[in-house]
Amino acid sequence: MTDSVSQCEFSLRINGEQRFVRACSMERLLDVLREQFGLKGAKEGCGEGECGACAVLMDGELVVSCLVPVIQAAGSSIVTIEGLAGDARFDALQEAFLECGGAQCGICTPGMILAAVNLLNKRPSPTIDDIHEGLSGNLCRCTGYVQIVEAVAEAARRGATR
Ligand code: FES
Ligand code: FES
Repeated sequence: MTDSVSQCEFSLRINGEQRFVRACSMERLLDVLREQFGLKGAKEGCGEGECGACAVLMDGELVVSCLVPVIQAAGSSIVTIEGLAGDARFDALQEAFLECGGAQCGICTPGMILAAVNLLNKRPSPTIDDIHEGLSGNLCRCTGYVQIVEAVAEAARRGATR
């Protein structure tokens, strides 16, 4: 429904709840999540689709929310890091990241964990190559990646199943 010349109302399912938002069609999903819904877990790193800090799941697929206009997300189901609270796979990953030193400054961590959840949803017992590939869209300036890969492997070993 058109609200003004430039704004429309969009319906999205966010972390399991039907939500409505008024926004310009090309407003970035990242901004809608952070500014209109207060979901600050998705971070802005590069703003160009390169770093993965803004990653969320959209209809079960990992997307970089800085490149998704809200009109494209309309009608879809979005899961942010906040929506994983209480999820067994998330809990296992969070523990393993802490134990393995996979999180330092934390800017990349929500996106990394969402990428890892996405990977483990598809491959519950990933090889190290699978983990590298699954995290290939996510950059980390702090850890050198070794601890992150170890953390995902450890979470998978512990059977991070739903
Ligand atoms: S902020 Fe979206 S990919 Fe870097
Ligand atoms: S922990 Fe700092 S960017 Fe990854």
